[in-house]
Amino acid sequence: MAQYTRVSGSVGLITLQSPPVNALSAAVRQGIVDSMQRALSEPEVKSVVICGQNGIFSGGADIKEFGGQMSGPPLIPMIHAIEAASKPVVAAIEGIALGGGLELALGCHYRIAHSKARVGLPEVTLGLLPGAGGSQRLPRLIGVPAALDLITTGRYVTAAEALKFGLVDQITDHNTVNVAVKFAQRVAGQPLDARRISTYPCLCPPDVDVLFEEVMQRVRRTARGAIAPIACVQAVRAAATLPYNQGMERERELMATLFTSGQTRALQYFFFAQRAVGRWSMPSGARWDTSKPRPVHKAAVIGLGTMGRGITVALAQAGFSVVAVETQEKQLMEAKQAISGMLERGAKRRGVAPALDKINYGCNIQSVADVDLVIEAVFEDMALKKKVFQQLSAVCKPGTFLCSNTSGLDIDQLACQTRNPELVVGMHFFAPAHVMKLLEVVYGPKSSPLAVATAMQLGKKIGKVSVAVGNCRGFVGNRMLKPYLEQALFLLEEGATPEFVDQVLEEFGFAMGVFRMSDLSGLDVGWKVRMADGLAVPNPTTGQATRLRQGRRYSPLGDLLCEQGRFGQKTGRGWYQYNKPGSQVAKPDPWLHSFLDEYRARHTLVARRIDHQEVLERCLYSMINEGFRILEDGIAAGPEDIDVIYVFGYSWPRHRGGPMFYATTVGLNKVLERLEHYHQAHPDVPSLQPCDLLRKLVGSGSPPIQKWREVIKKVRSQL
Ligand code: 3HC
Ligand code: NAI
Repeated sequence: MAQYTRVSGSVGLITLQSPPVNALSAAVRQGIVDSMQRALSEPEVKSVVICGQNGIFSGGADIKEFGGQMSGPPLIPMIHAIEAASKPVVAAIEGIALGGGLELALGCHYRIAHSKARVGLPEVTLGLLPGAGGSQRLPRLIGVPAALDLITTGRYVTAAEALKFGLVDQITDHNTVNVAVKFAQRVAGQPLDARRISTYPCLCPPDVDVLFEEVMQRVRRTARGAIAPIACVQAVRAAATLPYNQGMERERELMATLFTSGQTRALQYFFFAQRAVGRWSMPSGARWDTSKPRPVHKAAVIGLGTMGRGITVALAQAGFSVVAVETQEKQLMEAKQAISGMLERGAKRRGVAPALDKINYGCNIQSVADVDLVIEAVFEDMALKKKVFQQLSAVCKPGTFLCSNTSGLDIDQLACQTRNPELVVGMHFFAPAHVMKLLEVVYGPKSSPLAVATAMQLGKKIGKVSVAVGNCRGFVGNRMLKPYLEQALFLLEEGATPEFVDQVLEEFGFAMGVFRMSDLSGLDVGWKVRMADGLAVPNPTTGQATRLRQGRRYSPLGDLLCEQGRFGQKTGRGWYQYNKPGSQVAKPDPWLHSFLDEYRARHTLVARRIDHQEVLERCLYSMINEGFRILEDGIAAGPEDIDVIYVFGYSWPRHRGGPMFYATTVGLNKVLERLEHYHQAHPDVPSLQPCDLLRKLVGSGSPPIQKWREVIKKVRSQL
């Protein structure tokens, strides 16, 4: 709702009231319409101020209303009526004015913002465009180039930047509402014609066509199949080329197309999924709202290789004191140089001082004695990690949380090496750790809610999206990656090329196909794991046994490449060839094609034509099937956790919502039917065998994803 009061005798004050972000729900819109009518009809009222309660102007349209029937007054005529009002209307922007919230402010005649406020049009991130006149008013107010930037990226700007753009008229450090009320009194009775943005011409730079072309090309390149960024460019082009009313008509048409696309549904789901993962729970019943974290002031990182360096940077940049430990002086100095460089480059980008003095370097594990939390990032070697955990347990003060960045080793085995296994959790970062948003917080059977809550909170403080997951081989992300990689290899054996498989996956929206990604990560990583598991063996017997190990189909293709020293980008050869080691430009490699031909001939495999559909179905459905198993096992509490992990950690296209949401858009029955089909064709591939939970969900009529938790609970209670 919106509250109407008269202040200072002549100002009608409309306060939006819809906690927590004053979203423009039907009740709020009705409140604004009623309050405006009252303000305009009261002769004592000479001007109007619109503000939001609790120091927040508005977070925009109420996203929860998008799925349902539209009720209450629509936003566009409401904003038009405000702009057309005969009395001046001033927006007092505190906190945030986003999406429809900013569009409402753009309908006002003046905008005054607090210096700490942020404004933006993030609709594109929800698969939409600023559809309440924002795409038409913003370019008229701040010019086409700046509007294109804000609308196509959805980025927020500070009040100072907004003032520079001319997006707000004044900023203040004082009470914004008081300042706005005084301002409103001052402008009462002044002519308003020059204050109605919809009447402004849209000023374009001379080379506007070139600009639109360039932006469109950039957007198409980076959108990975998302349609909203393209519609945003088209809407701004309409503002630049058409009269306001026709531009609004174009905005409406484009918005209607976006609204009915599956992409906005996926992105809205993802918006809420991102928030849902913060409300974590453990099978023991421990939950986010009943488990208090302990503050962390000082942390340590053990092992300053690829991951340890990024983790140290992330901690220092967030203001934590860090003790950074390596084995020997030489490695330590190399790491220090690399970390300092990363901090300096980051600080330059953000216009702040580098946090170099936050880090103390050393080679002695004793130096971590007084820290509150340790993150171990030494080689992926269980024996080594066990030793490090024993040392840490002996050295650290009581109560120190001991965390491992292992990509998939058993957290419980590490916990068992310590005096206080309840203080041990996994903190699984993704490379590069100071950039990637995802953090898997892995709880073992002994991990306490306190340890989980503390790791989750630390993740949040260093800007990560943290997801609490159970302890199993590969946790959630890497466990699901296994069948995906496996199918990709099988497809090569059956006739596909790495380029074709990657092309299909990149067209689907992945930033990188599976083979380009493997080359980037390094093929030797998985090889070592397979050797440790007894799967990759040198000189296996030829024939069928080579392709059947531990009772299931196995592809040794990755191992054979590694035996040739082809580890991917780092060696300049992998599934592709590169100009030189470390180069990132992947080129098809004729050697690899002949190698595949010879391999098939050796194993009497006849290459067949494999189409797009088969690549997608086998790679994605096998991964989704593993996701259902993970839910069944209770490793992830809900499908949102899996989807957030895949979007933030594995470049799953956000506009497809994540693998589990994607399964709902395909139809669970179709996923089941195709898995059955492929399992029949490949009975020696267990990951293609549909799991029970998927069958149960289909059996119970494929309920919407928001209802899965109920079915999961039932399935788990029957185990
Ligand atoms: N509608 C409905 N609920 C919203 C909302 C919105 N626009 N914005 C936030 N919320 C809810 C969140 O779901 C969350 O609910 P929960 O507590 O039940 O999980 C609660 O408000 C608090 O949100 P956050 O946890 O995200 O709080 P933060 O303080 O971290 O962030 C924020 C606040 C910056 C406003 C962030 O929530 C945000 O970015 N919101 C979305 C803004 C947006 O995209 N607006 C555009 C909407 S589309 C539109 O306006 C269309 C128009 O052009 C016609
Ligand atoms: P890395 O090989 O780059 O670095 C490991 C570092 O640990 C080396 O610098 C080594 O000198 C140091 N080290 C070894 N023993 C030590 C000890 N006893 N004390 C102090 N330092 C010691 O390895 P990377 O890639 O950084 O991996 C580290 C951990 O992170 C592994 O568990 C790995 O599985 C995990 N991980 C790796 C990811 C990646 O993409 N590289 C992603 C996510 C997790």
